[in-house]
Amino acid sequence: MTRVTSQRLRFQQPSLPAAAAIERYLAAARDERWFSNCGPCWRLLRDRLSEATGCESVPVANATLGLIVAIAALRPRGPRKARQALVPSFAFAASAQSAVWNGLEPVFVDIDPDHWHVAPDALERALAQRRGDVAIVIALSSFGTPPPPDVRRFWEDSCSAAGVPLLVDSAAGFGARAADGRPIGSQGDAEVVSFHAVKPLAAGEGGAVFTRDPDLAAEILSLTGFAFDERRSATRPNGINAKMPEHTAAIALASLDEYPDALAARRAAAAQILDELPEGFRPQLEHERGTWQFVPVSASSAEARADVLSAAGEAVELRTYYDPLHRMPAFAECERTDGLAVTTELSERMLSLPMAADFEPDEIAAIGMMLRAAVDRT
Ligand SMILES: Cc1ncc(COP(=O)(O)O)c(C=O)c1O
Repeated sequence: MTRVTSQRLRFQQPSLPAAAAIERYLAAARDERWFSNCGPCWRLLRDRLSEATGCESVPVANATLGLIVAIAALRPRGPRKARQALVPSFAFAASAQSAVWNGLEPVFVDIDPDHWHVAPDALERALAQRRGDVAIVIALSSFGTPPPPDVRRFWEDSCSAAGVPLLVDSAAGFGARAADGRPIGSQGDAEVVSFHAVKPLAAGEGGAVFTRDPDLAAEILSLTGFAFDERRSATRPNGINAKMPEHTAAIALASLDEYPDALAARRAAAAQILDELPEGFRPQLEHERGTWQFVPVSASSAEARADVLSAAGEAVELRTYYDPLHRMPAFAECERTDGLAVTTELSERMLSLPMAADFEPDEIAAIGMMLRAAVDRT
């Protein structure tokens, strides 16, 4: 089946496992007549996610709720009166919104121009300048690519020296490992992934919180179910409903079965697309460790990006990445730790190329043709 000759190549082509593959898992929930609140599919998913990462895991309704409960559980471990959350502006809205839902003020930090994650020196400066005010650091595995090990270690050491918990938002990163073998899930004090329909491991909506600390995992799990104790009495005022229902867990389990092949296919397609990049366009440092929700690249200039966007025309659907958060109306008034020069400049050059786990060869060729057409124009 070709999907490029007659219509525009879509930016993403989400798919879910076949009904029979999902039903194979959901049957257990039907047998028990138990469709939410830690049923058999949820428990199996939790165990398989833990096995894959070597960490405790808590499947949740979506990553945004996962971030919210992780911050709620981590916050008491930070400085007592602190009210700020350090977060990159080069992020997704939920990375900062989850802090606001916890009564914290996002304060933006800059990123590194090569790996596109929080810049270690910017983080260190911010923690030193704001000692006692920072309740949590929310760093990202940008685009689901794990940060280089020395960067992760620097984040972990700086946060631990400052007595501030580190939460890593790795929404697109499930299944990735850093260059030293550390899996997504094991970074920081807690880490969150998304199983949204457009994520490489998709369940429609869904996500998981990971931590290496069993007590923290128990606290996070409790928060996802109204913080009820065994007598169904709420133990914390900020308990919420963040539970993943059984049908979502069944889809996630079926997706997990297909994931090794799907991830390998995404990585192979990404390598082919990157081979076609015009001069001056660059992928993220250590991009080969990513999971390829789409293919993010930086153009040499805003003008070079505009050339590609216009060459794509009606044939290929391209995206830029979201505006940086400090340029969104919701966060325009938030403090910044410095000028956010890298974030601002890189955002104007970011280009997102299409990806699918089941690309046809002619679809990848269409992306290459479009990129070559952009170069020919200039
Ligand atoms: C970096 C990041 N964080 C959080 C989220 C929110 O995930 P969800 O849609 O599962 O709530 C996303 C979604 O794209 C994301 O990219």
